[in-house]
Amino acid sequence: MEGSGHPASVKRLKREDLPRHGGILIRVDWSSINYKDALAVTGRGKIVRASFPFVPGIDLAGTVEESNHPAFPPGTAVLSTGWGVGEKTWGGYSRFQWMSPEWLVPLPTGLSARQAMILGTAGFTAMLSLRAIERHGLPPEDGPIVVTGASGGVGSFSILLLASAGYEVVAVTGKTEAEAYLYDLGAHRILPRAALQDGARRALDSGEWAGCIDSVGARVLEAIISRTKQHGVIAACGLAGGSQLHTTVFPFILRGIRLIGIDSNTCPMQPRKQAWEGLRDLAQRVDLERIARDVTLKQVPAACEQLMKGGITGRYVIDMRGA
Ligand SMILES: NC(=O)c1ccc[n+]([C@@H]2O[C@H](COP(=O)([O-])OP(=O)(O)OC[C@H]3O[C@@H](n4cnc5c(N)ncnc54)[C@H](OP(=O)(O)O)[C@@H]3O)[C@@H](O)[C@H]2O)c1
Repeated sequence: MEGSGHPASVKRLKREDLPRHGGILIRVDWSSINYKDALAVTGRGKIVRASFPFVPGIDLAGTVEESNHPAFPPGTAVLSTGWGVGEKTWGGYSRFQWMSPEWLVPLPTGLSARQAMILGTAGFTAMLSLRAIERHGLPPEDGPIVVTGASGGVGSFSILLLASAGYEVVAVTGKTEAEAYLYDLGAHRILPRAALQDGARRALDSGEWAGCIDSVGARVLEAIISRTKQHGVIAACGLAGGSQLHTTVFPFILRGIRLIGIDSNTCPMQPRKQAWEGLRDLAQRVDLERIARDVTLKQVPAACEQLMKGGITGRYVIDMRGA
């Protein structure tokens, strides 16, 4: 939170210091670091829409400690992502936090709290993106799917999910050192980010890919749109490379390209629970640990600096049990 004039630090609080949003007190066991968290902790983006002091952390997993809600009695294992937690209300970087019932998903049977946080918002967003691609009628036989920001959180899980659903995956990365990691996740080919970062060469370039999960935006997304085949589907979920988008209508009216926006933050409860059940199934099929990088709460500010530089491969998870 440096740029906000509120430097990030770890402080000991009493339970009475926690704002009571909702009637459910969660004992947080695990949290994670997402791009939004790095913006909040470093103060590089206006992501915190609340007064300071503030506790960030858009993801948390733990156990209900106290509750006034029959659906979440004490002892219930839960997870939470989105809904403005860690942006508007205090979030997961605290051993205890008050939550509203509508923010909570019961932890699917067979998924541990640690696994839920290795996945976190990143895995959930990748699952929503895959479902958008499937819902818009793009079977694996239609051709390769590009994943941008491939070594990041959303990118890593997009590769894992697409490959395990039978898609051919082209991973776009700025990190040559991440190639072995990306092949291990299931990428079939790797394309250096430099090949796309100058944007579209022309409005309609040769169609190479059937679809894309894009967490980068800006010039990279411009290039993807121009090089997507007839009736392709692009799930646009991020802006790691920037928020501007310059394109023409030609890819949409001459090729029928579908550009689908993904918002994990306010995803309604029914598809949210279904997505988490799908993520539980993924966690039972593949080893998520190869994506996890462990950090302590004290290491979070340095880890967020690193993430803002695009220097992270995989997902940071935070063990809150000793906090
Ligand atoms: N719509 C939603 O609901 C939703 C949910 C989650 C995240 N997001 C957004 O998705 C994006 C990624 O989030 P994340 O948590 O996966 O972040 P992350 O772990 O930091 O991954 C981002 C990746 O993007 C690439 N990248 C970084 N800087 C770049 C730049 N300047 N130009 C091009 N590529 C760059 C890097 O991968 P390579 O080095 O491999 O290229 C980096 O690892 C963020 O913008 C985030 O806000 C949106």
